[in-house]
Amino acid sequence: MTILLTGGTGFIGSHTASVLVEAGHNVVLLDNFSNSSPDVADRLARITGERVVLVKGDVRDTPLVRDCLEQYACTSVIHFAGLKAVGESASRPLDYYASNVQGTISLVQAMNMTAVRSLVFSSSATVYGVSQYLPYDEKHPTAAINPYGRTKLHVEEMLKDLCDSDPSWRIACLRYFNPVGAHPSGLIGEDPQGIPNNLMPFIAKVASGVLPEVNVFGTDYETPDGTGIRDYIHVMDLAEGHLAAVAYLERNAGWQAINLGTGRGYSVLEVLRAFERTCMRTLPWVAASRRPGDVPTSYANASKAAELLGWRAHRDLDDMCASTWRWQCNVAGKAT
Ligand code: WQD
Repeated sequence: MTILLTGGTGFIGSHTASVLVEAGHNVVLLDNFSNSSPDVADRLARITGERVVLVKGDVRDTPLVRDCLEQYACTSVIHFAGLKAVGESASRPLDYYASNVQGTISLVQAMNMTAVRSLVFSSSATVYGVSQYLPYDEKHPTAAINPYGRTKLHVEEMLKDLCDSDPSWRIACLRYFNPVGAHPSGLIGEDPQGIPNNLMPFIAKVASGVLPEVNVFGTDYETPDGTGIRDYIHVMDLAEGHLAAVAYLERNAGWQAINLGTGRGYSVLEVLRAFERTCMRTLPWVAASRRPGDVPTSYANASKAAELLGWRAHRDLDDMCASTWRWQCNVAGKAT
């Protein structure tokens, strides 16, 4: 199959590309490089031994997307392109709606023009909002509490309406929990510009001496050690989940929302200690006030992905830290 990956040189996109190519698929990466680098394509070629097609462009350029789908005879799409910082979305909501909602409308219009109607959408557990019960399963009420989460929820619901209107569509909305880690080669990984918002890349920069200490946002939550609990999932497990979703859509039409998580939560301090074991140095941290919008605990009921996709995460927290550290020491921050 030939699969178009929008946002394909980004963190999740590039790892998914490596897994798809190694599974024998052809991939076309479409990216505007607003939060990634074109040289990811070269590093992917070093990993897989295959050249990938790289197209510079924005998913909101509907004619460009249509031409890509036709020129490369794409059979399905995985849609990663979008803005994804929760805090930033509160200060730039219009940019988030333009990028995430308008971008998806443009994409599915181009897909409709070319009769490509198999779509995996990069969604997020953020759509669940504050938990009414845990672990989150796909039946949990959705109630996003920030503009970023609302854009993901609007897109999910728009895609469901599309499937209800035309049974030829095949759509899987994958609700990611907390993607972390890097490819075992150390050649691709999470490379946020500036000061990382997310915990794991922030810890990695403290471990490498780039940042002085970790600020632990809240030590008074109702959790065993008082710090926030999240379901961290290795990006390679996540990538394999996308491969399984593409295969599922070859056999099944309709709309599905599917959690991609491990079903296990770790606290901030547990992650910090795991990283200390990896880098073999003590990591300085300070207790800081809670971050607005954070929930105390979030972790997945991952049984639907196992039943529907035949997929489960299998890499553990030490794998996540070790691969992050290898990436941080090799390339992160130095990538052109
Ligand atoms: C994890 C835990 C923080 C940084 C976000 C998005 C989600 C997804 C993943 C896009 C929390 C604590 C963090 C720090 C800290 N992104 N923390 N000090 O907020 O769970 O999820 O990223 O899809 O949609 O919401 O991830 O890594 O920011 O935070 O103490 O410097 O680490 O309070 O408990 P989060 P995170």
